[in-house]
Amino acid sequence: MLDFVRYLNDCKFILVSNREPYEHMYGSGGIEVRQPAGGLVSALDPTMQYTHGTWVAWGSGTADRDVSDEAGRVQVPSEDPQYTVHRVWLDDADIDGYYHGFANRALWPLCHMLIQHFEFRTEYWERYRAVNLRFAHAVADEAERCTGRSMVWIQDYHLALVSEFLRAMRPNLFVHQFWHIPFPPPDILQLLPTGTQESLLRGMLGNDLLEFQIDRYVENFMDCVEQFLPDAEVDPVRQTIVFRDRVIHVGAFPISIDVERFEALASSPETDRRVQTLRERYARDGRQLGVCVDRVDYTKGILERIRALEILWAESPELRGRFTFLFVATPSRSNVPAYQSLERDVVDRTREINEQYGSADWTPIVLVNENVDADLLAVVYRAGDLCIISSLQDGMNLVAKEFVACQVDERGVLLLSRFTGSAEEIEGAYLINPFNVDGFVSAIRTALDMTPDERRRRMRRMRRQLRNSTIFDWLDSILARATAIMAQQQSAAV
Ligand code: ADP
Ligand code: F6P
Repeated sequence: MLDFVRYLNDCKFILVSNREPYEHMYGSGGIEVRQPAGGLVSALDPTMQYTHGTWVAWGSGTADRDVSDEAGRVQVPSEDPQYTVHRVWLDDADIDGYYHGFANRALWPLCHMLIQHFEFRTEYWERYRAVNLRFAHAVADEAERCTGRSMVWIQDYHLALVSEFLRAMRPNLFVHQFWHIPFPPPDILQLLPTGTQESLLRGMLGNDLLEFQIDRYVENFMDCVEQFLPDAEVDPVRQTIVFRDRVIHVGAFPISIDVERFEALASSPETDRRVQTLRERYARDGRQLGVCVDRVDYTKGILERIRALEILWAESPELRGRFTFLFVATPSRSNVPAYQSLERDVVDRTREINEQYGSADWTPIVLVNENVDADLLAVVYRAGDLCIISSLQDGMNLVAKEFVACQVDERGVLLLSRFTGSAEEIEGAYLINPFNVDGFVSAIRTALDMTPDERRRRMRRMRRQLRNSTIFDWLDSILARATAIMAQQQSAAV
């Protein structure tokens, strides 16, 4: 374990995101605790467990208010408290305008360059500004609770304006932000109304350091600043921007997973037993099992994947009964119409394919339409002969890394969309273009025909790489960079 806590020394660590790491929900047996699905929570909960800081986030659980104190604070995880969650309360109009509206109907599709889903309303933007201001107040309140310095770390596209608001409230606070999703080039960002793209970029430049997943997003961001903020000075070589007499640093820091934890989950005796049962059911006598785990989101290329599978079974009848696909999908953002219709399409298309190609003793696509726990994820990943990640655009894609970490038998092939951040990092995956359906189908065929030696060679390479680039390496590199900039600022101030 890297000793990254040393960077925080005498400094209070305040993490800020829209999504909270634990939701308290009223269930049939009383109050239940749930961990929401998504890359942000999976990556940052282990981080916070080691740093013992404070996490400021929207209190979205139905029982959240009842378990928090008057300031909205609660210790988590409840069975072994390691850090504080400070909940920000949002009403229905806030959630509609800020979260479903500007964040998920405007920014999400723009950043993923899927502009057919882009929808801008002035009221969304106004609500987004108001909620970002409320988050900034909650952070300022946390910073005031400590006598020493604080380091504020904002997460993602929901909170693009928080650093600028914070800077106006507490000019000396050190603030940085990690952008989990892609950042688009200027031709795409300019779909926002004139004035809004400038406000968004100015908001982000309230940070001292801005972190993106890969270099391409850093370049896109700098190009956008150059084009829309003429008074900013962009230095693409040093990766800095001078704006309003401040220097803002920008860099690429690819996120990862807690590799040891996934390896341990995948290697436990209980997992052995469950993998055997699963393979006995779907992959005995040389049959093969394909797997995937997703939030149901149009960026993930789910319908493209289902279409490729359908063509495969249509064109290769010999694979019917010999190749089953297990699809673990959790509904996501179900109040946004594009997500509702995708959820329906996924269920309908799966049923059609199962009716057309299935038989009394074989179901082509086994759809598990829910959020599952980490133990079951590890079972699914380890049991797979191949995993298909077909995102149309994806900032990183942690599922790819989780699959690799859990492949302790080195049997599986990773088919990975070239439009994911992971594709630029992982060597050994079989890259696909999900927009090219015939190429996609032939890649699945190649994967199914790949020899055990070739599979092992590729998987070993990926596993070696992954062990050298874990969530803790990611955190270490970000905190090292942030504290170095903090120190430079302090020495320049004396
Ligand atoms: P995103 O951040 O867009 O959701 P990622 O692939 O980066 O995409 O991260 C998704 C995370 O959510 C992974 O850690 C994955 O294990 C988890 N996840 C996705 N779908 C499910 C599901 N059905 N059940 C449990 N966890 C899920
Ligand atoms: O990783 C990208 C991301 O948008 C996170 O910010 C988010 O928590 C996750 O996907 C899941 O989405 P949501 O929080 O909207 O359920």
